[in-house]
Amino acid sequence: MRKKIVAGNWKMNNTLDEAVYLVEEIISKVKQSEVVKIIIPPFPFLESLNRKVGEVVSFHLGAQNCSSLPHGAYTGEVSAKMLHSVGCQYVLVGHSERRAYFNETNEDLVLKLREALAHQLKPIFCIGESLDQREGGFYFEVIKSQMAEVLSHFSASEFINIIIAYEPIWAIGTGLTATTQQAQEMHQYIRTEVASIFSEEIAQQTSILYGGSCNAKNAHDLFACKDVDGGLIGGASLNADDFCAITASF
Ligand code: PGA
Repeated sequence: MRKKIVAGNWKMNNTLDEAVYLVEEIISKVKQSEVVKIIIPPFPFLESLNRKVGEVVSFHLGAQNCSSLPHGAYTGEVSAKMLHSVGCQYVLVGHSERRAYFNETNEDLVLKLREALAHQLKPIFCIGESLDQREGGFYFEVIKSQMAEVLSHFSASEFINIIIAYEPIWAIGTGLTATTQQAQEMHQYIRTEVASIFSEEIAQQTSILYGGSCNAKNAHDLFACKDVDGGLIGGASLNADDFCAITASF
């Protein structure tokens, strides 16, 4: 049985006080369950929040990015080793905002995944097509190449630590959610691709999250799809009631 996972990507929001308050509110309101809950705040809050979530069963901490480099004279970079040392267990790799605004290439993502895996972080590897690519009708090809160009550099034993998040770019922060049919169709396709790169057995074990305007209203229908194993939540993860409701939507 694959794990059910809900990850909250806070992006560049909140001050330290607000971050601590939000996480305390989430912890006090959440319904106990086996759902894996991952809080992904900005870097400066990681250590303080680890003191909060580190003590709560089924809660984990993640980072929004890591460097492709191990250490050294790279001003402003944050390494996977540093993230592990402050209690992170997960890290987002290849979020579409990083690909688009910070020019992250597939080559960078291979290096980032390597760094993350080398320091016991579970990467959440994000893929997704743009609106033009969706409307052009070649979205399966886009996803196939995003997966092949990165994942083919990893062995099966490395890949089993990677979670995939399918986030259609046209749905991120837009209020436009993929329909359950669009989500299921793509998640099934992604699982088939994992089977062809690695094996059917590994594909069945791979967690594939949906992201893109997933909220307390639509999470239940999305999570009911056979190949949707949970969600990567942006905007709605900044509200404790919404985030808690989403974790209870399986
Ligand atoms: P959203 O963001 O839920 O605000 O659409 C999702 C994401 O970017 O991970």
